Amino acid sequence: MPKALITGITGQDGSYLADFLLDKGYEVIGVVRRSSTINFDRLRHIQDRLAIVQGDLLDQVSLIHLLQEHQPDEVYNLAAQSFVPTSFNQPVLTGEVTALGVTRMLDAIRTVDRRIRFYQASSSEMFGKVAEVPQTEKTPFHPRSPYGVAKVYGHWITINYRESYGLFACSGILFNHESPRRGLEFLPRKVSYGVARIKAGLQDKLVLGNLEARRDWGYAPDYVRGMWMMLQHDHPDDYVLATGETHTVREFVQIAFSHVGLDWNDHVVIDPKYYRPAEVDLLVGNPAKARAILGWQHSVSFERLVQIMVDADLAMLQEAEIQRTAPNINW
Ligand code: NAP
Ligand code: GDD
Repeated sequence: MPKALITGITGQDGSYLADFLLDKGYEVIGVVRRSSTINFDRLRHIQDRLAIVQGDLLDQVSLIHLLQEHQPDEVYNLAAQSFVPTSFNQPVLTGEVTALGVTRMLDAIRTVDRRIRFYQASSSEMFGKVAEVPQTEKTPFHPRSPYGVAKVYGHWITINYRESYGLFACSGILFNHESPRRGLEFLPRKVSYGVARIKAGLQDKLVLGNLEARRDWGYAPDYVRGMWMMLQHDHPDDYVLATGETHTVREFVQIAFSHVGLDWNDHVVIDPKYYRPAEVDLLVGNPAKARAILGWQHSVSFERLVQIMVDADLAMLQEAEIQRTAPNINW
């Protein structure tokens, strides 16, 4: 049975990757940092099939010990401070986790067992103020946030350890991918959850920032499949995963509201506090290399993605309402 170690397993991608690898027959080790409140919401359905272990990308000793103890075949480094606005407020922490954390893990692999295959979660945020359209593996980087800068470091240190020490280290340059498990602070989930709450009569307004930004949005389960495919190939390399389509925030909002029969103009309010000090105006990826070499492609359209997310949040609120009003048979 192959063994995979996942950092960031409590996040959106970590939970989907764990689902995927368990289905493939892997033994999955999930690295969780210590906190005073345990939050395994995204893992509840598979918790008893995982080994949850404590570790932190800020603490290299913990990473070395984990690799020595569990001897994984594959390491997926998904942990990061991943929210762009927070990176402007906490640029040093973002650099420690999202940039130097990658070096800590790579060097732990170099120290413990160089045969371990490594996946780094790089990002389309690295393209930032884009040098060309669409973006490929060869497009120069111009990051626009401390998060993007940290990801550029993580990307290049991954390549450097591959070239310096012969590690099987891959970097996936992933464009935005979403799902009902997305954090509530990211635009697509903020919108799907807000729409569901407005439809349920729990709120009337949804306060957003820049509606003109364009993103290449896909469905998260498609993207974790691509991570695994990179590590199964004969040679380590870097790949863009994207849909090849770009849409504005405004389009996302409009489709989400119209899906439940509402007009977004009646509910959306703009507040400049959600604008960023520097914005990434346009992202659209060219996934031709991943398609040609790995056989990867996305399976969920933009419109379908928006509908999946809104429907999931509507169902979640209905469930919560049923739980609140259902009689408690234990009284
Ligand atoms: P996410 O939901 O924000 O999850 C981030 C994970 O990192 C959480 O499990 C978090 O743990 C963990 N983490 C944060 N700091 C840590 C530390 N110091 N030590 C150990 N773990 C730590 O992110 P995601 O959307 O799943 O994304 C996964 C990765 O892909 C991230 O690296 C992200 O930057 C990158 N990426 C995402 C996208 C996208 O569209 N989703 C696109 C490109 C790249 P807690 O639960 O304890 O906070
Ligand atoms: N979060 C948020 N909240 N974004 C808003 C809002 C709002 O109220 N209003 C408009 N936006 C715009 C942002 O300015 C940005 O242009 C766009 O919506 C998408 O924002 P997010 O969903 O927060 O994602 P992101 O593109 O900044 O970053 C995500 O994708 C990256 C890959 O390109 C994150 O998942 C990163 O971790 C990931 O690397």
